[in-house]
Amino acid sequence: MEILKRTVNCGALRKTDAGKTVILNGWVHRKRDHGGISFINLRDRWGITQAVIDQDAPAELAGIASELRNEYCLAVEGKVRPRPPEMVNPDMPTGEIEVAAERIVILNRSGVLPFQIDEKTSAGEDLRLKYRYLDLRSFAMQNRIRLRSEVSFAVREWMTGQGFYEIETPTFIRSTPEGARDYLVPSRLYPGKFYALPQSPQLYKQILMVAGFDKYFQIARCYRDEDARGDRQPEFTQIDIEMSFVSRDDVLAMTEGLFGHVFKKILGVELPARFTRLTYEEAMERYGTDKPDLRFDMLLHDFSPWVEQGSFQAFKDALGRGEADRKEAAAKGVSASGGGVKALVVKSGAGYSRKQIEELEAQAKIYRAKGLAWMKVACGEGSPFLEGGAAKFFADTAGAPADGELARSIITGLKAEPGDLVLMVADSRRSVANTALGAVRSKLGRDLGLVPGAGQPAAGNAAGPGRFEFVWIVDFPMFEFNEEENRWEAAHHLFTWPQEQYHAVLERDPGSVKGDLYDLVLNGYELASGSIRIHDPELQKRIFSIVGIKAEEAEKKFGFLTEAFTYGAPPHGGIAPGLDRLVMLMAGETSIKEVITFPKNSFAVSPMDDCPGDVDQKQLDELHLRIVKNE
Ligand code: AMO
Repeated sequence: MEILKRTVNCGALRKTDAGKTVILNGWVHRKRDHGGISFINLRDRWGITQAVIDQDAPAELAGIASELRNEYCLAVEGKVRPRPPEMVNPDMPTGEIEVAAERIVILNRSGVLPFQIDEKTSAGEDLRLKYRYLDLRSFAMQNRIRLRSEVSFAVREWMTGQGFYEIETPTFIRSTPEGARDYLVPSRLYPGKFYALPQSPQLYKQILMVAGFDKYFQIARCYRDEDARGDRQPEFTQIDIEMSFVSRDDVLAMTEGLFGHVFKKILGVELPARFTRLTYEEAMERYGTDKPDLRFDMLLHDFSPWVEQGSFQAFKDALGRGEADRKEAAAKGVSASGGGVKALVVKSGAGYSRKQIEELEAQAKIYRAKGLAWMKVACGEGSPFLEGGAAKFFADTAGAPADGELARSIITGLKAEPGDLVLMVADSRRSVANTALGAVRSKLGRDLGLVPGAGQPAAGNAAGPGRFEFVWIVDFPMFEFNEEENRWEAAHHLFTWPQEQYHAVLERDPGSVKGDLYDLVLNGYELASGSIRIHDPELQKRIFSIVGIKAEEAEKKFGFLTEAFTYGAPPHGGIAPGLDRLVMLMAGETSIKEVITFPKNSFAVSPMDDCPGDVDQKQLDELHLRIVKNE
């Protein structure tokens, strides 16, 4: 077969090229016939060029043209000429010219397409994934994969410039607990034994610090057998980083430098030199989440100062019960935060219908709230007052309108104005009041259009730098109590350094301990997580013991790590930003599948190659595996 090789790509030609004879290679994006003239939009990675088969073209060429269908793969040879003025397309970089075809070679034909190759396809997700090679041909997908490639390059450029080594770590490892289930690989040579695919290179990067590599990074594939969500995949990529002789602020500053470089270079966006920092407690109290979206305000207020004076029994019960719970928990040696009543003000929200408020309440209930109380701020003669919903509980005297001193104190305290809506959640667990109202805040952010929508192209960055709001969340609790299993768990992972001032009380009051760990949040998504690590074998053993890992088990699973720590392990710490989430946010998308070439669907299946799939009996036999079918 004759391959007419391109002399120029489909995005390159301009008016100044008129008169040149060129060869283009690409796919038929669209074909139109007009009064004996055929127009072919030929597409490749770089763009689209219009080729024209004129009315007086030789019969052979006209014959080929009539055969062409969308996505035929072609070589087109012809002469560049300016388009007639009325045919100029200012929206296309090549819109001022066309190529008068003299020769067309069909390099390959295409079957009937399952969907059109377009920027926004209406095809369902499974169809897109089954024919991913077609889906990937769209410029929208090509741009996102290009963005991903550019981001990876910028990361490597900056990290190596800062003296980091890019070092690979194994994919077949001993299981590293990161909180999810492992993917296991059966060993052929050792019947009954398994490798695990790394949930992250956590232990290896720590051991690289013991090995003296000091500044390490890796664009590392990680595997976790957990349910897929918009921002989660069973296999994903981390920009994994570890450094020696550092404190928390060194890691934070290095990360700020990295993102500053990546955003400036790729999007032209200047990020602040230092990102906002919130403690975990501040984030929970103000935003009701440890992943706050700082692109809009609408902070949560503490409503408890007004509960006692009011007559809302549910609010009083929440605080009273909370106090009782707190005492009971303290007696058991378990931390509990007590009750909470939280409020948020929806600016100009007084027009909300009952149905809209019920929708918000449904959201709060998903996060275990018993209900969502509300009242509106109205304008009285001279001074504002509360009305509707729970307002009656805040009248100075029973049955009177809520326009007295108490109501005024609430309105001023919440910085509310006439026309605003006040939403409140009370619960005997303050954390429930916070998270439920935080979820309402997030829904309002989306519903009221307070955050720019998804699908905006990153390039051009229409909404300006304000679109990217980074925030560090620091001072996380080190442990969380698992009520079902009645035991403490590591909030991040087992290798985090408990802040020095808590070392004495680790075993006595695990709930009070804060870890030297940090999350980086971007626009409401957890982008990165990291910590200063334990490098003292004895301290590491104490942590294993607090989370209920017996000495023998700890030795079996992590003996190699604690042993490594006995050979002069340096103090060290690190972080791991998720590359998929980073590119997703830079691309203005809300699903990481949009920035991964071959992702799994929501059921952890790849419809294209039908994976996971069956294997031959011979393979099973070699691996010493027998499949037990559940009825
Ligand atoms: P962590 O488990 O928090 O920390 O993961 C770090 C970052 O990786 C990304 N991420 C994911 N992205 C897509 N799909 C998933 N299933 C998924 N899970 C995590 C997120 C997250 O912030 N070893 C530690 C890091 C460290 O301490 O240095 C770790 O893996 O962006």
